[in-house]
Amino acid sequence: MTTPRQRYRRGRLAAAFGGLAAATLAVTLAVPAAAAGSTLQAAAAESGRYFGTAIAASRLNDGTYTTIANREFNMITAENEMKMDAMQPSRGQFNWSSGDRIVNWARQNGKQVRGHALAWHSQQPGWMQNMEGSALRTAMLDHVTQVASYYRGKIYAWDVVNEAFDDGSSGARRNSNLQRTGNDWIEAAFRAARAADPGAKLCYNDYNTDNWQHAKTQAVYNMVKDFKARGVPIDCVGFQAHFNSGNPVPSNYHTTLQNFADLGVDVQITELDIEGSGSSQAQQYQGVVQACLAVARCTGITVWGVRDTDSWRANGTPLLFDGSGNKKAAYTSVLNQLNQGGTPVPNPGNPTPTPTQPGTTPTPTPTQNPGTGSCTATYSEGQKWNDRFNGTVTIRANGAISGWSSTVTVRQPQRIIATWNGSPTWDASGNVMTMRPSGSGALAAGQTVSFGFTVQHNGDWTWPTLTCSAS
Ligand code: G3I
Repeated sequence: MTTPRQRYRRGRLAAAFGGLAAATLAVTLAVPAAAAGSTLQAAAAESGRYFGTAIAASRLNDGTYTTIANREFNMITAENEMKMDAMQPSRGQFNWSSGDRIVNWARQNGKQVRGHALAWHSQQPGWMQNMEGSALRTAMLDHVTQVASYYRGKIYAWDVVNEAFDDGSSGARRNSNLQRTGNDWIEAAFRAARAADPGAKLCYNDYNTDNWQHAKTQAVYNMVKDFKARGVPIDCVGFQAHFNSGNPVPSNYHTTLQNFADLGVDVQITELDIEGSGSSQAQQYQGVVQACLAVARCTGITVWGVRDTDSWRANGTPLLFDGSGNKKAAYTSVLNQLNQGGTPVPNPGNPTPTPTQPGTTPTPTPTQNPGTGSCTATYSEGQKWNDRFNGTVTIRANGAISGWSSTVTVRQPQRIIATWNGSPTWDASGNVMTMRPSGSGALAAGQTVSFGFTVQHNGDWTWPTLTCSAS
């Protein structure tokens, strides 16, 4: 069964990409929007995708920042806190505190984490910058092993290697101390990461790889193709997607993403920001989202920060919220584009095979609970993927009520990883979510309202149990 949002016309989309700007907008507006997710994460979840942001630990005390981040995003990347210099400032001495703050905040709020980054020529600790040769190779592999092991089971995907290719037309590897340890350093890092955390997707991540014609794009493509042919454990390719007027979103972006996906890897947009303002910025954002939605294995999009003022290039106002936390035109265009739907992600989960499939669903737990007050919560199944399923809870007022709350309890090892149309809070175990209305919860007798969520099932397809309380 497909929803209206999933009946996406790829032919129309391909035509739109001939000219990304005005033509794209015109085509998109011609396709009517269906009932909409009201946040980025909710709208993306409808086609099985995540929508993420980079988070800085130093901003987690800022209420405006965390409110937006919690509401809009369900995939979190540490902007700097899990890089080599932050994780291992002195050789053999690991500092997990800032990385842990971000991972804990994400998990407490029901979000997943992209790990960034295990091996990179930049942001190496001083002791590593001065190393070369086999000693450096050993230190790099030890770092990969230690960090990936420490966070084992908590990471959706790792950027195992970041930015290892030259810019320009050479198509060569970047000359770095890591490259000088031998051309096989990248695959060695991937093998170490797989051994340390077999459940995390392993990604190669880079910038200026968006235009299919560019030598750097081709060079990364050829490396991934070679890795897949030789069984090097790579699961995904990250496209950073830092755009500005000198480096705009290319008209062949969809081609690039599709060609990589056709190698048998997921593709993810990992650090999206686009300098500019107003409708031209909004259109470029829309084009990026449209390109991802058209590629079944484009599993999610992450923007590189919350508000413009949080950005590494704040002067370029490249993000979706202004410095006061207001939604920009770019936000609206992204949300609307997500709500147009896309090619559903066939298997958005982790590389570990899931032990059961939807066809073998265990006997569901009861779907209805009369509630402790005058409301009833009813569960209905949504879309299913190999590793996750969507559910909707409909709250019905049995008499006039002024408010409600509903608990949704999932069984370990299940985990709720996205929600929409409500304000969730969580118990300490993370298994019990209490959903409350985002606005007024007043309902007339017989009136209904619905909220939704995504459960990563980890092999257990049991339906959640529900309660409903009215006030
Ligand atoms: O925290 C210190 C602060 O104490 C000090 O006073 C200040 C003085 O310069 O520096 C602060 O650290 C800065 C850090 O960001 C936190 O703001 C570093 O100098 C600065 O170098 C660092 O920049 C980060 C940059 O990576 C480093 O390469 C940016 O925040 C971060 O957004 C950026 O992210 C990279 C991705 O990892 C990879 N792709 C490109 C992307 C953009 O450059």
